[in-house]
Amino acid sequence: MDQEQQQLNGAMRSVSINSNGLATKLNGHNGCKGTDETDNVRVQPAATAAASGVSFTIGSETSKATNAANSATAATAATANANANAIQIQTSAAGASAAEKKKMVHELCQQLLLTDEQVQELCYRILHEVRRGLAKDTHAKANVKCFVTYVQDLPNGNERGKFLALDLGGTNFRVLLIHLQENNDFQMESRIYAIPQHIMIGSGRQLFDHIAECLSNFMAEHNVYSERLPLGFTFSFPLRQLGLTKGLLETWTKGFDCAGVVNEDVVQLLKDAIARRGDVQIDVCAILNDTTGTLMSCAWKNHNCKIGLIVGTGSNACYVEKVEEAELFDMADNNKPHVLINTEWGAFGDNGALDFVRTEFDNDIDSHSINPGKQTFEKMISGMYMGELVRLVLVKMTQNGVLFNGQGSEVLFTRGLFFTKYVSEIEADEPGTYTNCRLVLEELGLSNATDGDCANVRYICECVSKRAAHLVSAGIATLINKMDEPHVTVGVDGSVYRFHPKFHNLMVEKISQLIKPGITFDLMLSEDGSGRGAALVAAVACREDILNSK
Ligand code: GLC
Repeated sequence: MDQEQQQLNGAMRSVSINSNGLATKLNGHNGCKGTDETDNVRVQPAATAAASGVSFTIGSETSKATNAANSATAATAATANANANAIQIQTSAAGASAAEKKKMVHELCQQLLLTDEQVQELCYRILHEVRRGLAKDTHAKANVKCFVTYVQDLPNGNERGKFLALDLGGTNFRVLLIHLQENNDFQMESRIYAIPQHIMIGSGRQLFDHIAECLSNFMAEHNVYSERLPLGFTFSFPLRQLGLTKGLLETWTKGFDCAGVVNEDVVQLLKDAIARRGDVQIDVCAILNDTTGTLMSCAWKNHNCKIGLIVGTGSNACYVEKVEEAELFDMADNNKPHVLINTEWGAFGDNGALDFVRTEFDNDIDSHSINPGKQTFEKMISGMYMGELVRLVLVKMTQNGVLFNGQGSEVLFTRGLFFTKYVSEIEADEPGTYTNCRLVLEELGLSNATDGDCANVRYICECVSKRAAHLVSAGIATLINKMDEPHVTVGVDGSVYRFHPKFHNLMVEKISQLIKPGITFDLMLSEDGSGRGAALVAAVACREDILNSK
């Protein structure tokens, strides 16, 4: 491919990976788990000093926020109090000492901390919504749609062969060639292509033509141009599936908004785009969500894997459900006892169920998003929003004079310029040191921060990321309790889980508190969930075809 064409397709980088997980090693969670290594449950004390007991007086007003939030009503009161305090801060922060400023920051962040009672209430509400999504009568109105995936068989380790996979749903688009071999061995080559902003919000036809062009170029580069290979399509958006190779887009999420795709069969749109080119031959064997890919990818090596979780640009989970619970599954009479359910939990709270824990910052994120009123849970958790949430708190504290002596910067005051990776970097500093924090602040044009400012910035990051981890944990514990199996492995992927230094431990600790006694679990970092998972779903589908044709 010449340079111009490469630019045209936005080809960014090419990755080869083998079954030792060589290419993912660098990205391993906590810097040490690049392969499909199962993390045993290790309950560790929270690494952060949560200020759940802070109570102090600003002006004449004693904060009641500290003990608030034992119930939904109390939580609302906490938010109201924090807001009231913030107004007080505005007048009192100017000459405050470092210790007073720290207290003010902790007080404002109170609204971001979830009490045990609130988390418990969330589990209850999530379960309620999951049940509504599964049931015929309530599905249409449910926020957590619980789409049937038509995937009923987990891989048995005997899947073999060469597969193509497409992976669309995060910030980039990937094409992969995967060779599943014996003994859980596999070879994988992949290439990442950018999806330019104008395509993300352009027409559906443009999007699928771009995908087909990238696929064709990839096949030419990898010498499979004239082969007819089975393909698995990881399409990580809410899909109302009508079969393993048919699914209608319910709505776009995560910054995509291509016209003419909602309510259309996405597999057909892909096939049409490939046919328009007329140069390559493809057998689309399956369309799947990234959570399904992650579950399948982990289940290939670990047969206890029954939940797939993504905490990346978006957040979502899928799980193994009994067919009798999946009331919308129209193939429940095929004697297979289970089917994977794509919960699409990102939309939890769109009906107000999360209002008792939402903050002024969540409202701000939502009202400035491309999809206001939608994906409420996701907006409180995922990588697309986490950095911006932190930025909003920083801006408020700066404007109140509590941070940076009241002096912000243009970058700090610009939406979208506090990247989520900064949260991970800042929290990766050793206690008492602020090396990464200072580097980040310098990138933001804030070079005069005091140690006190750095400590406060870190605390704000900790509150936002800890809340995200606790929200995800409430979701996962709910699914584990619903499944009621003695042991469940959760396959996890996504940049937030992978790169945030404490997310894993925060989740392990919180899930342990929330699951029924006697159940055990572990969190397993997926080794390229979306890619290998797509190949595995395609492989399992091919296995079925062969069996059915016998
Ligand atoms: C969004 C999508 C969902 C996906 C998740 C993680 O929530 O709607 O399908 O699984 O992001 O990528």
